[in-house]
Amino acid sequence: MADSSSKVLTLFSPYKMGKFNLSHRVVLAPLTRCRALNQVPQPALVEYYSQRSTPGGFLITEGTWPSNTSVGFPHVPGIYTAEQVEEWKKVVDAVHAKGAIIFCQLWHVGRSSHGVYQPGGGSPVSSTNNPISERSKILLPDGSHDTYAQPRALETHEIPQIVEQYRCAALNAIRAGFDGIEIHAAHGYLIDQFLKDGINDRTDEYGGSLANRCKFLIQIVQAVVEAIGTERVAVRISPAINHTDATDSNPIGLGLAVIERLNKLQLNVGSKLAYLHVMPRFSGQGLVEDEAQFMRTLRNAYEGTFMAAGGFTRELGMEAVCSGDVDLVSFGRSFISNPDLVLRFKLNAPLNKYIRETFYTHDPVVGYTDYPFLNEQSV
Ligand SMILES: Cc1cc2nc3c(=O)[nH]c(=O)nc-3n(C[C@H](O)[C@H](O)[C@H](O)COP(=O)(O)O)c2cc1C
Repeated sequence: MADSSSKVLTLFSPYKMGKFNLSHRVVLAPLTRCRALNQVPQPALVEYYSQRSTPGGFLITEGTWPSNTSVGFPHVPGIYTAEQVEEWKKVVDAVHAKGAIIFCQLWHVGRSSHGVYQPGGGSPVSSTNNPISERSKILLPDGSHDTYAQPRALETHEIPQIVEQYRCAALNAIRAGFDGIEIHAAHGYLIDQFLKDGINDRTDEYGGSLANRCKFLIQIVQAVVEAIGTERVAVRISPAINHTDATDSNPIGLGLAVIERLNKLQLNVGSKLAYLHVMPRFSGQGLVEDEAQFMRTLRNAYEGTFMAAGGFTRELGMEAVCSGDVDLVSFGRSFISNPDLVLRFKLNAPLNKYIRETFYTHDPVVGYTDYPFLNEQSV
C-alpha cells in the first residue's frame, strides 16, 4: 500500500514486503533465458543471477517447470527433480551471499507447447481442446518455429494432480533455499487458459462464471500457501494481455475477480501474500491513459503489495512509485542488458542496449553474462 509518511517515495526508498526488508524497489522481472541445459540450472545461471543481486534487492527467477508436462520452451529449468533442486541451491546461495532475496517463478505452459516438449510426444493439457491459432508460432529446440500442438482439455478429476504439482514444486523451491515462489498466471499460459473466457470453454465447475474460471488459480494459491506460508507466495496476472489468443471479454472484471478472491483468501488465512504482480501494459505504445487507469483500478482493489512491469523506464518507475500507483517495479529487458541496473538507475547513468537476438539462445556467456558493468565501460 502507499506509504502514509510525507517523505517522497522513489525507486530507492526501502520497502517492507511482509517479512522481507527490501532496500530498494527495482526488481528483476522473471525472464526466460534458455541457458539451463536439459532443464538443469548450470553454473552460468549462478553467475547471471549473482550479477543482478544487490543487498536488499529482490529477484524473480525465469519461469521454471513444476513438472515434466509443463514444458514448452527449450532449456528452461525445472524444479521437479532432485538434481534440479541441488543445482538451484547454488544459484540461491550466490544470490543470498550478495544479500538479495529471490523467488522462483512456477510456469506451466498448458497448450503453449508442442510434441517435442511433451513426454512421449503426447498432447499438452489445457482448459480446452482448442489449439492456439496458427498465427502464433512456438520456438523449438533447434531454433526453428512451428504451430502449437493440439491440446487436450484436462478432465475435472485430473485438476487436483496439477494443483499437487505446484504444491510439490513450491516445497522443492523452499528446499532449494528460495525465499518464496511466484505463480505465473499470466501471458496465456495454463492458468491464464482457465481465467480467460476467450479460451476457457469448459462446462464443468472450472468454466463459465468468473468464480469458476478463477477456481483453478485459487486452488493452486491455497495449496501452495498451506505448504510454504502466505508470505512466501506471489501471483502474476495479465488480464489485458492477449498473447497467444488469451483474450477476455472483460479484462478489468477478470482482474478484479482474481483480486477479490486473493483478498478473501488473505483474510481467511490472516496473513498477506508476498505481492501481486501485474502486467498492465497492453498497447506496447508507452503508458497510455487507459493502461495507467487499468493499473490504478487493480492497485486500489488489491489489499497488499502491488508490483507492476512492462515498459517501465527509470523515470516511469519513479513516477509510479512516487504517485503510489505501485509499491515495486520489475524490469525485464533493461535488466537483461544491465547487470548493474540498480546502480545505473541510482546514478542516472546511461544503459546498455539489449540484444534481442540473444534473448533465447543457449550460449552460457554471449548475450547472457557478458553485458558490461559501468566500471568496465569506463576503463
Ligand atoms: C526474454 C524475455 C523473457 C521473458 N520471460 C518471462 C518469464 O519467464 N515469465 C514471465 O512471467 N514473464 C517473462 N517475460 C516478461 C517480463 O517479465 C516482463 O514483464 C516484460 O519483459 C516487460 O518488462 P520490460 O518492458 O521491462 O522488459 C519475459 C520477457 C522477455 C523480454
